[in-house]
Amino acid sequence: MIKRPTEIIKKENFLSQEKSINIKENNFQELMNIYNIAMKKTVQYLNDIKTDVKRFYDYDMIDHITYRVKSPESIIKKMQKKDYELNYKELIENINDIAGVRVVCPLKTDIYRIRDIIYNIDDIKVIEDKDYISKPKKSGYMSYHLIICVPVEYEEKIIYIKVEIQIRTMAMDFWATLEHRMKYKSKNKYSEECSKEFIKFSKTLKTIDNKIEKLYEKQYGKNNVVVLKR
Ligand code: GTP
Ligand code: MG
Repeated sequence: MIKRPTEIIKKENFLSQEKSINIKENNFQELMNIYNIAMKKTVQYLNDIKTDVKRFYDYDMIDHITYRVKSPESIIKKMQKKDYELNYKELIENINDIAGVRVVCPLKTDIYRIRDIIYNIDDIKVIEDKDYISKPKKSGYMSYHLIICVPVEYEEKIIYIKVEIQIRTMAMDFWATLEHRMKYKSKNKYSEECSKEFIKFSKTLKTIDNKIEKLYEKQYGKNNVVVLKR
């Protein structure tokens, strides 16, 4: 019988292993492959949405989609930082962004449309929903985050794998990419000045996003893309 997503990712439904396994062992790659399948499935759903909306409404609701499976190094780094024991159980239960998909769209309304469509996909179960658009982070970060569970067939069983989806506008993506680079990729410490400037940039981009949306409405009328009920 197929298990529903609410019974997600109990380790028993996963790899039948002892309680604690060092994640450096061989089957780590196998685990990552399963996350990879879940991620690709999610991307497939999103690409279908993009194609359908384009075909039926001649509207580009999604500009582009990127995705990645977290590298073993950053998984371990994150687990150590958060004081988790390095075993599969902790990994599966606590690290929600092993498979990550980012959806970048032109308008803020597109974000909410995409969210609603995702909620309506029967196969997918949303287990976490964070709106950093109506309530941006202290840094100025804006995005809509969902953690979903995607069914994957594994050893003749259906298991549910977590995938993090980040949905944002091009402006939010531009901000997040550069801020991330300044914060984590530069040799020098992320300065107070930098942080303050980025908070300001975020506010400016929010204004731009809102203005562009109004202009779009004026130009094309309220876009008639079906908005599915949640
Ligand atoms: P993590 O332990 O980082 O996963 O935190 P969390 O589980 O509370 O998730 P959260 O929703 O806060 O953020 C998850 C992801 O959003 C991060 O891995 C980043 O990709 C992105 N993110 C969150 N905050 C920021 C930020 O201030 N700047 C940038 N550039 N990205 C951010
Ligand atoms: Mg996270």
